[in-house]
Amino acid sequence: MPLDDATRYRGASAPSVAVVGVNGHGRSHLLRALAAHAAGEVRLAAVADPRLDALPELPGGTRRHGDLASLLEGGAPDAVVLSTPIHTHAELATAALRAGCDVLLEKPPTATGEEFSALLDVVAATGGRCQVGFQSLGSEAVRHVRERVAQGRVGEVTGYSAAGCWVRTRGYYRRAAWAGHRHLDGRVVADGALTNPLAHAVATALAVAGAQRAEDVASVRTDLFHVHDIEADDTSAARVHLADGRDLLVAVTLCAAERGEPFVVVEGTAGRLTLYYAIDVVVEEVPGRPPLVTRHARTDLLADLLAARERGTALLSPLSAAGGFTRVLDAVVTGPAPRAVDPSFARRVVLPDGDERLELTGVEGAVARALSGRALFSELDLPWTR
Ligand SMILES: NC(=O)c1ccc[n+]([C@@H]2O[C@H](COP(=O)([O-])OP(=O)(O)OC[C@H]3O[C@@H](n4cnc5c(N)ncnc54)[C@H](O)[C@@H]3O)[C@@H](O)[C@H]2O)c1
Repeated sequence: MPLDDATRYRGASAPSVAVVGVNGHGRSHLLRALAAHAAGEVRLAAVADPRLDALPELPGGTRRHGDLASLLEGGAPDAVVLSTPIHTHAELATAALRAGCDVLLEKPPTATGEEFSALLDVVAATGGRCQVGFQSLGSEAVRHVRERVAQGRVGEVTGYSAAGCWVRTRGYYRRAAWAGHRHLDGRVVADGALTNPLAHAVATALAVAGAQRAEDVASVRTDLFHVHDIEADDTSAARVHLADGRDLLVAVTLCAAERGEPFVVVEGTAGRLTLYYAIDVVVEEVPGRPPLVTRHARTDLLADLLAARERGTALLSPLSAAGGFTRVLDAVVTGPAPRAVDPSFARRVVLPDGDERLELTGVEGAVARALSGRALFSELDLPWTR
């Protein structure tokens, strides 16, 4: 992981951990748990997934289950990592917490605001811990930015923004039935750019702005588009009005020509801080001074959950701190449906493995203009929004 010395456990006394959802992103959780097991820091008690073929070799004694219910029947581990489709989160996290487990729940924690409130109640009623898998919130970089702002390094804050230009292929949307859906079989799925792949941009910007609780967000206006043949958004902007009067402008796309590093910006009267949240780098720019670039350490969220269990420390990404994010998610899933971009504005690029991606011509420039003008895509004179 690695765990720090105070959290280092050995052999049978190590906390027991289960990983639920072991393909897709869950594979990285499984591999980390295997490494921690090998180091004696945790005991990998069980895995659960309806698809248990092609697993790496598991330690002797690790139970395999087709679902969480049978895993819990076989004995509740100390902590469960849930890396399953978004619309399963609320139900599985509730079951794990009620069984007495602490939970590392992948983002977004729930598919709706209602599920979020209900899950908060379960956390309160059970006294369990629920850490949300926004791994960027484990970074010292977030605290560094907040400190520099508090020290007045960029003057008075005038606004926050976040951007991401990523690439998702047709294969990404075809890998699972829920991919690219707002709803599936009568359930909210919420698999859009702002709520899934680039959800960290929203959550990290809210953390930097000190607006993580639901009540910190006054209102949200969304502006959603899809270039791919999907129900959810893949090119999206949102203006989030914060309760303190400032606002946060987010503009993202999954139809860029190439993957760029996503970032969060704090604009101030005397300069600007840019946090490249996926790589823990902060760039501080103040006119008349060379840019100050700093790199920061990051704490693994499972290690942090286990440390909190052992020592009673506060979580780095507790469920309650995803309240502001969930207000944005709720606005995305309950607001106007994404509008289809005319295919003539997109370029189809066939990849060497036969997969293909769609490139929305000039979308990187549109994202940059949205940030500099603090405008939604529909407020810019862009051909593909007309
Ligand atoms: N933190 C990150 O950087 C990051 C990155 C990617 C995905 N994620 C999150 O991880 C979660 C999973 O995403 P994914 O892209 O890997 O999904 P996926 O559909 O590709 O994989 C999900 C896995 O869960 C299994 N599964 C489905 N229903 C299950 C159930 N009821 N019980 C147990 N297992 C079940 C599937 O068989 C599959 O193995 C999502 O919440 C996603 O947002 C987080």
